[in-house]
Amino acid sequence: MKQEKVLIMGAGGQIGVELTMALRAIYGEANVIASDIREAHPLLAGKGPYVVLNAMDANATLELVKKEGITQIYLLAALLSATGEKDPKRAWDINMQSLLQVLDMAVQEKLTKVYWPSSIAVFGSTTAKQDTPQKTIVEPRTVYGISKYAGELWCQYYNQRWGLDVRSIRYPGLISWKSEPGGGTTDYAVEIYHEALKHGKYTSFLSEHTYLPMMYMDDAIRGTIELMEASAEKIQSRMAYNLSAMSFSPKEIAASIQKHIPSFEISYAPDFRQQIADGWPQSIDDSAARADWGWQHRFDLDKMTADMLHHLKG
Ligand code: SER
Repeated sequence: MKQEKVLIMGAGGQIGVELTMALRAIYGEANVIASDIREAHPLLAGKGPYVVLNAMDANATLELVKKEGITQIYLLAALLSATGEKDPKRAWDINMQSLLQVLDMAVQEKLTKVYWPSSIAVFGSTTAKQDTPQKTIVEPRTVYGISKYAGELWCQYYNQRWGLDVRSIRYPGLISWKSEPGGGTTDYAVEIYHEALKHGKYTSFLSEHTYLPMMYMDDAIRGTIELMEASAEKIQSRMAYNLSAMSFSPKEIAASIQKHIPSFEISYAPDFRQQIADGWPQSIDDSAARADWGWQHRFDLDKMTADMLHHLKG
């Protein structure tokens, strides 16, 4: 079997940092090239091949793919939901242009696989909020959600038209301690742990009973790699797979933290992100991922809280 050579675009982001480290453990450090528009994240700096690359720069990307003999691309560069609403056109351009360029390049250069993340943001307020199915009404209201749903359709199109092996997951909110989130509506669920340890209190930008689907980063990274390593005939959906682990509200995550830090206090000051959250599902039906390629989550809220606090305490 040919040695895979992986390019990660957006390696400095919340998913990218941990995915880079996990893929390097599998394929070997030299076979996973990390890239981002920024200088290397501290956890990646000096620890393997790293290139400063703008995901919008098709020529530079193609040059790198050819020079390094890249066989797989993970395109993670994107503007998320909250940032996207501040500059919708820019979010659309970044999220779409980078994807279409990578899909074209993958066909042209005969890459073996492409990974591109989607999100629960593809769903809107006309979708059933509980146990949102894989296939359902899809009317995203944020530019991020629109770009993710359009991107899913493009991925499916390239698979059907050109046979490209492109795979995707609709991530819920992701909670991590190694890498920081940026510009998402679910980011409160990361900030709260940092603030609990630093200041013993946190003001949530979502209201107390705002339930959203969430997942610990360990599960998300393992799920991503399991999807990418599954044999192609198992992948029944070339749109993105729903993936679920837990659903909680700010009040519930606060209660989980209080089991470790009894004096922790939460207050609520919802901002523009409340409206985004109100348009999203509260829980996700991921039976397709479980049936097709054996997805199983391992972390629930309390297990995640214990792990987050343990690591952040240092
Ligand atoms: N975590 C993302 C966001 O909040 C959802 O995909 O934008």
